[in-house]
Amino acid sequence: MNAPWEQTANQPNFESLNKDLKTDVLIIGGGMTGILCAHMLHQLGIDYVLCEADTICSGITKNTTAKITSQHGLIYEKLIRQFGVAKAKQYLDANENALKKYRELCRKIDCDFEEKDAYVYSLNHRRKIENEITALERLGIHAEFVRTLPLPFSVAGAVRFKNQAQFHPLKFVAEISKGLHVYEHTRVQTLVGTKAITSQGTIQAKKILVTTHFPFINKHGFYFLKVYQHRSYAIALENAPNVHGMYVDEAPTGMSFRNYENLLFIGGGGHRTGKKGGAWQELRDFAKRHYPNAVEKYHWAAQDCMTLDGAPYIGAYSAGTNDIYVATGFQKWGMTSSMVSAMILSDMVQGKENPYAQVFSPGRTILRPQLAVQVLESAFNLLTPSTKRCPHLGCALKWNPDEHTWDCPCHGSRFTKEGTLIDNPATKGLKTHP
Ligand code: FES
Repeated sequence: MNAPWEQTANQPNFESLNKDLKTDVLIIGGGMTGILCAHMLHQLGIDYVLCEADTICSGITKNTTAKITSQHGLIYEKLIRQFGVAKAKQYLDANENALKKYRELCRKIDCDFEEKDAYVYSLNHRRKIENEITALERLGIHAEFVRTLPLPFSVAGAVRFKNQAQFHPLKFVAEISKGLHVYEHTRVQTLVGTKAITSQGTIQAKKILVTTHFPFINKHGFYFLKVYQHRSYAIALENAPNVHGMYVDEAPTGMSFRNYENLLFIGGGGHRTGKKGGAWQELRDFAKRHYPNAVEKYHWAAQDCMTLDGAPYIGAYSAGTNDIYVATGFQKWGMTSSMVSAMILSDMVQGKENPYAQVFSPGRTILRPQLAVQVLESAFNLLTPSTKRCPHLGCALKWNPDEHTWDCPCHGSRFTKEGTLIDNPATKGLKTHP
């Protein structure tokens, strides 16, 4: 139940921590963000180590659809409305630079990097597409309105970004992580100031980067209020058409499409973690209707951290935690957001100002309509009677019949049927399980 990436790339192995040590920068979490941070610090000659609780990229990164684009749904109209033109431009420029950085790195790495146009379409709301194009014009970008797509349904319109990209994320990581200072199977259990405690030793750092997908320090930063998780599903079909691009529906529960080699990936069926959604059945029904000769080769699910206003949180962890930084809340756009995080955080640990940092500041207002949803969801699930309770903050867990897991609707922790931890922010399994 995984994307094709793991079977088609060999990751390097790293030893576990087996002593106490000191470093300038400790990176906690070895997904794409942590690896890119380590890569940049390595290039800069900064002393660092990275600790990963399992093996690198074994969490969220292994199931990304790996689209590298500054087109993040219909975000620019929303960003201008919420933050103004200047900050929306910071977001755009940060992501354009991330794309450029990938392009440079991938020139030297055999990782199936391909330039493709990216499209956001709307099934029924032409006006939304037009508004996004107007917003982009205000930011100095000419994006094209497209009326028809090579997809088996009609759309009200789409916005096209030319020359975006897609790649094989684990072939990329396999190459870029060679020689980095990484400890695998080393879970940071707690922090005392900037000292990390693991079961195999302690790491005294001057600065810490928390790149654990969902931030694991509960006491600071209110991440339990400002981040929730969303699950989405994907299938890979053989004997299905080449759609010559990357496509995503503007609707949160809509579908996405891209090819990889002879496969067509279809994504969708999504829902808030712990809730119900169409899951794989919705995608299989669609494939049967529109691509009756196609054969399903892979199916998998992904989990994304969502924020209250649609922009990631990248920067100082909280006002009460000196020298600790965070990167989270990438919505569905983990590849460029990881690179943006690495660019911002590597500047911050050097005490340098980053020109894009403001729009991503974790200290920005949390007074957004989604906050009320968060509070109600948490209150409801905390008060729901259940024998299965989440070890993170105690919400009632919900059974996920598609994946046979226990999922938490509050912040998205997930556990196997037997209770073993799959996804954070919980840091341990259900009672009697590790
Ligand atoms: Fe926070 Fe379950 S993930 S209570």
